[in-house]
Amino acid sequence: MIGQRKDDHVRLAVDQQRQHSGHNQFDEVSFVHHALAGIDRSDVSLATAFAGITWPVPLYINAMTGGSENTGLINRDLAIAARETGVPIASGSMSAYFKDPSCADTFSVLREQNPDGFVIANINATASVDKAQRGIDLLKADALQIHVNTVQETVMPEGDRSFAAWAGQIEKIAAAVDVPVIVKEVGFGLSRETVRLLKDLGVTAADLGGRGGTDFARIENGRRELADYAYLHGWGQSTVACLLDTQDAGIPVLASGGVRHPLDVARALALGASGVGASGGFLRTLLDGGLSALIAQLSTWLDQLAALQTMLGARTPADLAHCDLLIHGDLRSFCTDRGIDTRPLARRSGSLGTFDALDEMTGSTR
Ligand code: FNR
Repeated sequence: MIGQRKDDHVRLAVDQQRQHSGHNQFDEVSFVHHALAGIDRSDVSLATAFAGITWPVPLYINAMTGGSENTGLINRDLAIAARETGVPIASGSMSAYFKDPSCADTFSVLREQNPDGFVIANINATASVDKAQRGIDLLKADALQIHVNTVQETVMPEGDRSFAAWAGQIEKIAAAVDVPVIVKEVGFGLSRETVRLLKDLGVTAADLGGRGGTDFARIENGRRELADYAYLHGWGQSTVACLLDTQDAGIPVLASGGVRHPLDVARALALGASGVGASGGFLRTLLDGGLSALIAQLSTWLDQLAALQTMLGARTPADLAHCDLLIHGDLRSFCTDRGIDTRPLARRSGSLGTFDALDEMTGSTR
Protein backbone atom coordinates (compact mmCIF):
# COMPACT_ATOMS: atom_id res chain seq x y z
CA MET A 1 0.00 0.00 0.00
CA ILE A 2 2.74 2.51 0.98
CA GLY A 3 4.87 1.31 -1.95
CA GLN A 4 1.97 2.04 -4.32
CA ARG A 5 1.59 5.53 -2.81
CA LYS A 6 5.28 6.24 -3.33
CA ASP A 7 5.02 5.21 -6.98
CA ASP A 8 1.89 7.40 -7.37
CA HIS A 9 3.73 10.40 -5.89
CA VAL A 10 6.60 10.04 -8.33
CA ARG A 11 4.28 9.71 -11.33
CA LEU A 12 1.99 12.60 -10.34
CA ALA A 13 4.87 14.88 -9.29
CA VAL A 14 6.68 14.42 -12.59
CA ASP A 15 3.42 15.00 -14.55
CA GLN A 16 3.00 18.21 -12.57
CA GLN A 17 6.55 19.34 -13.43
CA ARG A 18 5.88 18.72 -17.11
CA GLN A 19 2.72 20.85 -16.94
CA HIS A 20 4.09 23.66 -14.75
CA SER A 21 3.63 27.15 -16.22
CA GLY A 22 7.20 28.08 -15.39
CA HIS A 23 6.15 31.12 -13.37
CA ASN A 24 6.11 31.48 -9.62
CA GLN A 25 6.71 34.11 -6.97
CA PHE A 26 10.50 33.92 -7.25
CA ASP A 27 9.87 36.16 -10.28
CA GLU A 28 8.78 38.92 -7.89
CA VAL A 29 12.29 39.24 -6.46
CA SER A 30 14.99 40.97 -8.50
CA PHE A 31 18.54 42.11 -7.83
CA VAL A 32 19.43 45.79 -8.26
CA HIS A 33 22.08 45.75 -10.97
CA HIS A 34 25.40 47.37 -10.01
CA ALA A 35 27.64 47.35 -13.08
CA LEU A 36 30.91 47.52 -11.10
CA ALA A 37 30.04 45.14 -8.27
CA GLY A 38 31.67 42.13 -9.94
CA ILE A 39 34.62 40.25 -8.43
CA ASP A 40 37.01 37.54 -9.68
CA ARG A 41 35.63 34.04 -10.09
CA SER A 42 38.76 32.69 -8.40
CA ASP A 43 37.70 34.50 -5.21
CA VAL A 44 34.27 32.85 -5.08
CA SER A 45 33.42 29.95 -2.77
CA LEU A 46 30.16 27.99 -2.73
CA ALA A 47 30.62 26.68 0.82
CA THR A 48 27.92 27.39 3.36
CA ALA A 49 27.81 26.91 7.12
CA PHE A 50 24.90 27.01 9.54
CA ALA A 51 24.16 25.60 12.98
CA GLY A 52 27.48 23.74 13.10
CA ILE A 53 26.91 22.15 9.67
CA THR A 54 29.27 22.88 6.76
CA TRP A 55 28.29 22.03 3.19
CA PRO A 56 30.62 22.38 0.20
CA VAL A 57 27.72 23.83 -1.80
CA PRO A 58 24.51 25.62 -0.77
CA LEU A 59 22.27 23.37 -2.90
CA TYR A 60 20.69 20.06 -1.86
CA ILE A 61 18.44 17.39 -3.27
CA ASN A 62 15.43 17.51 -1.01
CA ALA A 63 13.33 14.65 0.37
CA MET A 64 11.51 12.49 -2.11
CA THR A 65 11.28 8.80 -2.03
CA GLY A 66 11.99 5.18 -1.10
CA GLY A 67 9.77 2.27 -0.08
CA SER A 68 9.14 0.48 -3.38
CA GLU A 69 11.33 -1.28 -5.94
CA ASN A 70 11.02 1.58 -8.43
CA THR A 71 11.73 4.31 -5.88
CA GLY A 72 14.75 2.35 -4.61
CA LEU A 73 16.21 2.61 -8.12
CA ILE A 74 15.43 6.33 -8.16
CA ASN A 75 17.18 6.74 -4.81
CA ARG A 76 20.21 4.91 -6.17
CA ASP A 77 20.52 7.40 -9.03
CA LEU A 78 19.85 10.41 -6.82
CA ALA A 79 22.59 9.21 -4.46
CA ILE A 80 25.09 8.79 -7.30
CA ALA A 81 24.26 12.28 -8.60
CA ALA A 82 24.74 13.69 -5.09
CA ARG A 83 28.08 11.88 -4.75
CA GLU A 84 29.34 13.07 -8.13
CA THR A 85 28.49 16.72 -7.47
CA GLY A 86 29.01 17.02 -3.68
CA VAL A 87 25.39 18.01 -3.15
CA PRO A 88 23.76 16.99 0.17
CA ILE A 89 20.72 14.73 -0.16
CA ALA A 90 17.64 13.88 1.91
CA SER A 91 15.76 10.58 1.81
CA GLY A 92 12.01 10.37 1.37
CA SER A 93 9.85 9.67 4.38
CA MET A 94 11.06 6.51 6.09
CA SER A 95 7.60 5.43 7.34
CA ALA A 96 7.56 2.68 4.73
CA TYR A 97 10.71 1.24 6.32
CA PHE A 98 9.23 1.44 9.83
CA LYS A 99 6.12 -0.45 8.60
CA ASP A 100 8.04 -3.00 6.55
CA PRO A 101 11.76 -3.31 7.24
CA SER A 102 12.16 -5.51 4.15
CA CYS A 103 12.28 -2.29 2.05
CA ALA A 104 15.30 -1.00 4.03
CA ASP A 105 17.60 -1.26 1.02
CA THR A 106 15.47 1.21 -0.97
CA PHE A 107 16.59 3.83 1.59
CA SER A 108 20.03 2.60 2.67
CA VAL A 109 21.15 2.78 -0.97
CA LEU A 110 21.43 6.54 -0.36
CA ARG A 111 24.35 5.92 1.99
CA GLU A 112 25.81 2.93 0.15
CA GLN A 113 26.21 4.91 -3.06
CA ASN A 114 27.34 8.06 -1.27
CA PRO A 115 29.49 6.95 1.67
CA ASP A 116 31.14 10.32 2.34
CA GLY A 117 28.33 12.69 1.43
CA PHE A 118 25.93 14.60 3.66
CA VAL A 119 22.82 12.42 3.97
CA ILE A 120 19.63 13.45 5.76
CA ALA A 121 17.02 10.98 7.05
CA ASN A 122 13.34 12.01 6.77
CA ILE A 123 10.48 11.05 9.07
CA ASN A 124 7.01 12.36 9.88
CA ALA A 125 6.02 14.20 13.03
CA THR A 126 4.20 11.21 14.51
CA ALA A 127 7.32 9.03 14.53
CA SER A 128 8.54 7.89 17.95
CA VAL A 129 12.01 8.77 19.21
CA ASP A 130 12.93 5.12 18.64
CA LYS A 131 11.90 5.30 14.98
CA ALA A 132 13.73 8.59 14.51
CA GLN A 133 16.88 6.89 15.77
CA ARG A 134 16.33 3.83 13.55
CA GLY A 135 16.00 6.12 10.54
CA ILE A 136 19.22 7.93 11.42
CA ASP A 137 21.02 4.64 12.03
CA LEU A 138 19.93 3.03 8.75
CA LEU A 139 21.36 5.92 6.71
CA LYS A 140 24.19 6.80 9.09
CA ALA A 141 22.52 10.16 8.64
CA ASP A 142 24.28 13.46 9.27
CA ALA A 143 20.97 15.21 10.05
CA LEU A 144 17.29 14.40 10.51
CA GLN A 145 14.39 16.05 8.70
CA ILE A 146 10.92 15.90 10.23
CA HIS A 147 8.26 16.84 7.70
CA VAL A 148 5.09 18.67 8.68
CA ASN A 149 2.38 18.31 6.04
CA THR A 150 -1.13 18.87 7.41
CA VAL A 151 -2.49 19.92 4.00
CA GLN A 152 -1.11 16.83 2.28
CA GLU A 153 -2.45 14.52 5.01
CA THR A 154 -5.87 16.19 4.81
CA VAL A 155 -6.22 15.60 1.08
CA MET A 156 -4.52 12.17 1.09
CA PRO A 157 -7.34 9.60 1.07
CA GLU A 158 -5.56 7.42 3.66
CA GLY A 159 -3.95 10.43 5.41
CA ASP A 160 -3.54 11.31 9.08
CA ARG A 161 -6.38 13.29 10.66
CA SER A 162 -4.80 14.03 14.08
CA PHE A 163 -2.19 16.75 14.25
CA ALA A 164 -2.34 18.04 17.82
CA ALA A 165 0.53 15.87 19.09
CA TRP A 166 3.02 16.92 16.39
CA ALA A 167 4.69 19.82 18.21
CA GLY A 168 5.24 17.75 21.35
CA GLN A 169 6.66 14.88 19.32
CA ILE A 170 9.05 17.19 17.47
CA GLU A 171 10.27 18.53 20.82
CA LYS A 172 10.89 15.00 22.13
CA ILE A 173 12.80 13.94 19.02
CA ALA A 174 14.88 17.14 18.95
CA ALA A 175 15.89 16.57 22.58
CA ALA A 176 16.73 12.90 22.08
CA VAL A 177 18.75 12.57 18.88
CA ASP A 178 22.34 13.69 18.52
CA VAL A 179 22.23 14.97 14.93
CA PRO A 180 20.84 18.38 13.84
CA VAL A 181 17.06 18.34 13.42
CA ILE A 182 15.51 20.21 10.50
CA VAL A 183 11.73 20.59 10.36
CA LYS A 184 10.39 21.01 6.85
CA GLU A 185 7.14 21.73 5.05
CA VAL A 186 6.43 19.90 1.82
CA GLY A 187 5.36 22.84 -0.35
CA PHE A 188 2.88 24.92 1.68
CA GLY A 189 5.43 27.02 3.58
CA LEU A 190 6.40 27.71 7.20
CA SER A 191 5.18 31.00 8.69
CA ARG A 192 7.18 33.23 11.04
CA GLU A 193 5.00 32.05 13.94
CA THR A 194 5.68 28.41 13.12
CA VAL A 195 9.44 28.91 12.83
CA ARG A 196 9.55 30.72 16.18
CA LEU A 197 7.67 27.81 17.73
CA LEU A 198 10.13 25.36 16.16
CA LYS A 199 12.99 27.29 17.72
CA ASP A 200 11.31 26.98 21.13
CA LEU A 201 10.87 23.25 20.51
CA GLY A 202 14.65 22.89 20.17
CA VAL A 203 14.77 22.42 16.39
CA THR A 204 18.13 23.23 14.73
CA ALA A 205 16.91 24.71 11.44
CA ALA A 206 13.71 25.15 9.43
CA ASP A 207 13.28 24.21 5.77
CA LEU A 208 10.57 26.61 4.65
CA GLY A 209 9.26 24.28 1.90
CA GLY A 210 7.02 26.86 0.27
CA ARG A 211 4.51 27.02 -2.58
CA GLY A 212 5.56 27.49 -6.20
CA GLY A 213 6.73 24.06 -7.32
CA THR A 214 5.39 20.63 -6.41
CA ASP A 215 1.84 20.98 -5.04
CA PHE A 216 0.94 18.05 -2.80
CA ALA A 217 -2.69 19.17 -2.52
CA ARG A 218 -2.93 18.60 -6.26
CA ILE A 219 -1.01 15.31 -6.11
CA GLU A 220 -3.14 13.83 -3.33
CA ASN A 221 -6.32 15.15 -4.93
CA GLY A 222 -5.28 13.26 -8.05
CA ARG A 223 -5.28 10.08 -5.93
CA ARG A 224 -8.86 10.66 -4.69
CA GLU A 225 -11.67 8.92 -6.53
CA LEU A 226 -13.76 12.11 -6.71
CA ALA A 227 -10.84 14.59 -6.83
CA ASP A 228 -13.04 16.70 -4.57
CA TYR A 229 -10.35 18.82 -2.90
CA ALA A 230 -9.40 20.81 -6.02
CA TYR A 231 -10.10 24.03 -4.14
CA LEU A 232 -6.98 23.44 -2.02
CA HIS A 233 -4.65 23.53 -5.05
CA GLY A 234 -2.19 26.39 -4.58
CA TRP A 235 -2.65 26.59 -0.79
CA GLY A 236 0.03 28.21 1.34
CA GLN A 237 2.82 30.77 1.18
CA SER A 238 5.45 30.87 -1.53
CA THR A 239 9.06 30.13 -0.61
CA VAL A 240 10.11 33.75 -1.12
CA ALA A 241 7.19 34.95 1.02
CA CYS A 242 8.33 32.56 3.76
CA LEU A 243 11.91 33.85 3.50
CA LEU A 244 10.74 37.43 3.92
CA ASP A 245 8.40 36.42 6.73
CA THR A 246 11.11 34.65 8.74
CA GLN A 247 13.94 37.21 8.48
CA ASP A 248 14.32 37.32 12.28
CA ALA A 249 13.03 33.89 13.22
CA GLY A 250 16.03 33.05 15.41
CA ILE A 251 17.15 29.78 13.77
CA PRO A 252 18.81 29.19 10.38
CA VAL A 253 16.41 28.70 7.51
CA LEU A 254 16.75 26.59 4.39
CA ALA A 255 14.66 27.36 1.32
CA SER A 256 12.88 24.88 -0.91
CA GLY A 257 9.75 24.72 -3.02
CA GLY A 258 9.59 25.96 -6.60
CA VAL A 259 13.32 26.54 -7.06
CA ARG A 260 13.64 26.42 -10.88
CA HIS A 261 17.18 27.50 -11.76
CA PRO A 262 20.40 29.01 -10.35
CA LEU A 263 18.91 32.52 -10.19
CA ASP A 264 16.21 31.24 -7.82
CA VAL A 265 18.98 29.69 -5.70
CA ALA A 266 20.75 33.07 -5.60
CA ARG A 267 17.47 34.87 -4.79
CA ALA A 268 16.79 32.52 -1.88
CA LEU A 269 20.32 32.90 -0.53
CA ALA A 270 20.00 36.68 -0.88
CA LEU A 271 16.82 36.50 1.20
CA GLY A 272 18.74 34.77 3.98
CA ALA A 273 18.59 31.05 3.29
CA SER A 274 21.63 29.05 4.43
CA GLY A 275 20.96 26.43 1.77
CA VAL A 276 18.49 25.83 -1.05
CA GLY A 277 16.78 22.56 -1.93
CA ALA A 278 14.86 21.25 -4.90
CA SER A 279 12.98 18.03 -5.52
CA GLY A 280 10.41 17.76 -8.32
CA GLY A 281 12.56 19.44 -10.99
CA PHE A 282 15.50 17.13 -10.32
CA LEU A 283 13.21 14.10 -10.35
CA ARG A 284 11.84 15.12 -13.71
CA THR A 285 15.35 15.50 -15.12
CA LEU A 286 16.28 12.05 -13.85
CA LEU A 287 13.18 10.35 -15.24
CA ASP A 288 13.22 12.19 -18.57
CA GLY A 289 16.96 12.28 -19.22
CA GLY A 290 18.59 9.68 -16.97
CA LEU A 291 21.39 9.88 -14.43
CA SER A 292 23.86 11.67 -16.70
CA ALA A 293 21.31 14.44 -17.34
CA LEU A 294 20.80 14.94 -13.61
CA ILE A 295 24.54 15.08 -12.92
CA ALA A 296 24.91 17.59 -15.77
CA GLN A 297 22.06 19.71 -14.39
CA LEU A 298 23.47 19.79 -10.86
CA SER A 299 26.96 20.66 -12.17
CA THR A 300 25.55 23.44 -14.35
CA TRP A 301 23.54 24.90 -11.47
CA LEU A 302 26.62 25.00 -9.24
CA ASP A 303 28.77 26.47 -11.97
CA GLN A 304 26.19 29.14 -12.80
CA LEU A 305 25.58 29.95 -9.13
CA ALA A 306 29.32 30.69 -8.81
CA ALA A 307 29.05 32.82 -11.97
CA LEU A 308 26.11 34.79 -10.50
CA GLN A 309 28.02 35.32 -7.25
CA THR A 310 30.97 36.61 -9.29
CA MET A 311 28.73 39.04 -11.17
CA LEU A 312 26.96 40.20 -8.01
CA GLY A 313 30.15 40.57 -5.95
CA ALA A 314 29.38 37.82 -3.42
CA ARG A 315 32.47 35.87 -2.35
CA THR A 316 30.32 33.38 -0.45
CA PRO A 317 26.65 32.39 -0.60
CA ALA A 318 26.18 34.29 2.69
CA ASP A 319 27.50 37.46 1.02
CA LEU A 320 24.48 37.41 -1.29
CA ALA A 321 22.49 38.58 1.74
CA HIS A 322 24.20 41.97 1.28
CA CYS A 323 22.99 42.42 -2.30
CA ASP A 324 20.26 44.96 -3.00
CA LEU A 325 16.88 43.38 -3.74
CA LEU A 326 13.60 44.69 -5.10
CA ILE A 327 10.32 43.08 -4.13
CA HIS A 328 7.44 43.40 -6.60
CA GLY A 329 3.79 42.55 -7.14
CA ASP A 330 1.75 40.36 -4.82
CA LEU A 331 4.86 39.58 -2.79
CA ARG A 332 5.09 43.23 -1.90
CA SER A 333 1.45 43.23 -0.75
CA PHE A 334 2.14 40.15 1.35
CA CYS A 335 5.01 42.03 3.03
CA THR A 336 2.85 45.09 3.69
CA ASP A 337 0.12 43.00 5.31
CA ARG A 338 2.63 41.05 7.42
CA GLY A 339 4.39 44.25 8.55
CA ILE A 340 7.64 43.56 6.68
CA ASP A 341 9.50 46.65 5.49
CA THR A 342 11.12 45.72 2.18
CA ARG A 343 12.85 49.06 1.61
CA PRO A 344 16.06 48.25 3.56
CA LEU A 345 16.56 45.24 1.25
CA ALA A 346 16.96 47.63 -1.69
CA ARG A 347 19.78 49.62 -0.06
CA ARG A 348 21.97 47.28 1.89
CA SER A 349 24.94 46.71 -0.45
CA GLY A 350 27.12 49.25 1.36
CA SER A 351 27.70 46.62 4.03
CA LEU A 352 29.32 44.26 1.49
CA GLY A 353 32.34 46.52 1.25
CA THR A 354 32.46 46.42 -2.56
CA PHE A 355 31.42 50.02 -2.94
CA ASP A 356 33.42 51.13 0.10
CA ALA A 357 36.56 49.83 -1.62
CA LEU A 358 35.59 51.58 -4.87
CA ASP A 359 34.80 54.77 -2.96
CA GLU A 360 38.23 54.64 -1.34
CA MET A 361 39.88 54.20 -4.73
CA THR A 362 38.01 57.15 -6.23
CA GLY A 363 37.72 59.37 -3.16
CA SER A 364 33.96 59.42 -3.72
CA THR A 365 31.53 60.06 -0.88
CA ARG A 366 28.52 58.50 -2.56
C1 FNR B 1 8.34 14.92 -2.06
N1 FNR B 1 8.47 15.64 -0.87
C2 FNR B 1 8.64 14.97 0.31
N2 FNR B 1 8.98 15.65 1.45
C3 FNR B 1 9.20 15.00 2.60
O1 FNR B 1 9.55 15.65 3.59
N3 FNR B 1 9.05 13.65 2.68
C4 FNR B 1 8.70 12.89 1.58
O2 FNR B 1 8.60 11.68 1.66
C5 FNR B 1 8.48 13.58 0.37
N4 FNR B 1 8.11 12.89 -0.76
C6 FNR B 1 8.12 13.52 -1.98
C7 FNR B 1 7.96 12.78 -3.15
C8 FNR B 1 8.07 13.40 -4.38
C9 FNR B 1 7.92 12.58 -5.62
C10 FNR B 1 8.32 14.79 -4.46
C11 FNR B 1 8.46 15.49 -5.79
C12 FNR B 1 8.44 15.53 -3.32
C13 FNR B 1 8.43 17.12 -0.87
C14 FNR B 1 9.73 17.75 -1.23
O3 FNR B 1 10.75 17.45 -0.30
C15 FNR B 1 9.59 19.29 -1.35
O4 FNR B 1 9.29 19.83 -0.08
C16 FNR B 1 8.49 19.69 -2.32
O5 FNR B 1 8.47 18.81 -3.43
C17 FNR B 1 8.67 21.10 -2.85
O6 FNR B 1 9.88 21.23 -3.57
P1 FNR B 1 9.93 21.25 -5.19
O7 FNR B 1 9.50 19.91 -5.67
O8 FNR B 1 9.00 22.34 -5.62
O9 FNR B 1 11.36 21.52 -5.50
